[in-house]
Amino acid sequence: MIDLDKFILGVDKGLRTLFTPAQTLRAVPGEALSDAPLDDAQRRLAAALMRVNHTGEVCAQALYQGQALTARAPAAKEALDHAAQEETEHLAWTERRIAELGGSKSVLNPLFYAGSFAMGALSGLLGDKWNLGFLAETERQVVQHLEGHLERLPVEDHKGRAILEQILNDEAHHASSAIHHGGAELPGPVKAAMKASSKVMTETAYWL
Ligand SMILES: [Fe+2]
Ligand SMILES: [Fe+2]
Repeated sequence: MIDLDKFILGVDKGLRTLFTPAQTLRAVPGEALSDAPLDDAQRRLAAALMRVNHTGEVCAQALYQGQALTARAPAAKEALDHAAQEETEHLAWTERRIAELGGSKSVLNPLFYAGSFAMGALSGLLGDKWNLGFLAETERQVVQHLEGHLERLPVEDHKGRAILEQILNDEAHHASSAIHHGGAELPGPVKAAMKASSKVMTETAYWL
């Protein structure tokens, strides 16, 4: 059952995610590194990849908010809240890096937020085992995606790489924590469908 107070909190969090700068408690990874000179093409590539990752973090916010509406696991709640807090930091780091590179955030973020929020709420309704399994699989797929971005990101982009490496570590930890709290292994076709839908996001956010 959806709790109206939680729903209003979710909407408020969504508006803040989309329209106000995110806050970070931890220092931004790579902050102390000096900016390597990037040529125009490298800068555009780095900004576009960071835009995709920022949109991924917008989706993560929405997913955690959505599942918090319906999830029932009090034991897992603390771990999920901790992960959600780290997602907010990822949002702040990617947002900041886009600005440093002179890039822009995806105009499609509200759409992706709404879709991910619905997915999160739906998976929460299926019960803790599947909800946590869905989160774990999402995080695993994000890890794979980030490994790909680390290969594509210019080696000169030290700051961007430091951010992605820390995010990758955090996401891997979110995945193992969700499994530790009872997440089930999802059926193969569900995993494939998740991959296909995140591909739509990553490919459109690269351009828009
Ligand atoms: Fe994240
Ligand atoms: Fe995560």
